[in-house]
Amino acid sequence: MAQVLLLYGTRYGTTKEISDEIEKIIQEKGFETESYDLNDISIKDIPPLDKYNGVILGSGIKINRWTKAAKKFLNKRISELKTMQNTMGLYVCCGEAAKKSDIKGAIEKYITAKLEDTALKPSLIDAFGGAYDLREGSAIKGMTRKIVIGIMQKEEGIENPDGKMHDFRDWGQIKAFATKFIELLNQ
Ligand SMILES: Cc1cc2nc3c(=O)[nH]c(=O)nc-3n(C[C@H](O)[C@H](O)[C@H](O)COP(=O)(O)O)c2cc1C
Repeated sequence: MAQVLLLYGTRYGTTKEISDEIEKIIQEKGFETESYDLNDISIKDIPPLDKYNGVILGSGIKINRWTKAAKKFLNKRISELKTMQNTMGLYVCCGEAAKKSDIKGAIEKYITAKLEDTALKPSLIDAFGGAYDLREGSAIKGMTRKIVIGIMQKEEGIENPDGKMHDFRDWGQIKAFATKFIELLNQ
């Protein structure tokens, strides 16, 4: 049975939820999956990639950057990834992809430009809108919280963003990504 490896880097948990949804869709089509939060595993403990028929890597974006762990995985395992780029999916989860019209620019900025020096060409790339959790007890605190509140007010036109969850993920787009990935596996 075909095996799919899902890896993700997340700071606030948004990308984990995206990865879990993609994994669920892939499992429903009868594939086996293995999934790792890159913060919880040392890169050397991730099995050799040739064990898998496909791999999906996702990262959240903060101040223009992938998570450290996602970047490290890409750099350390790049030669293995190149051998399976025909069944590789790569996505980012970011504020800039909140609007449909901005997705292309976010892909360019956070994927194409980041891969420029690597010569890696994953078959499937995408940028999903992110989420900002401003509910009480959220991990977005202090000065960062103030900045995010300012962004929500200015860029999204939300008058009183504090105390609420602002979720710009498009689950239809995420589902379409998973479906396209399954098509790659079946080719
Ligand atoms: C402090 C902070 C900085 C952010 N910086 C960016 C950014 O530079 N570009 C962007 O597109 N989105 C940015 N975002 C939006 C995140 O990408 C979004 O919240 C995403 O859901 C985070 O994913 P994660 O929860 O998996 O880490 C930022 C969010 C926060 C809270």
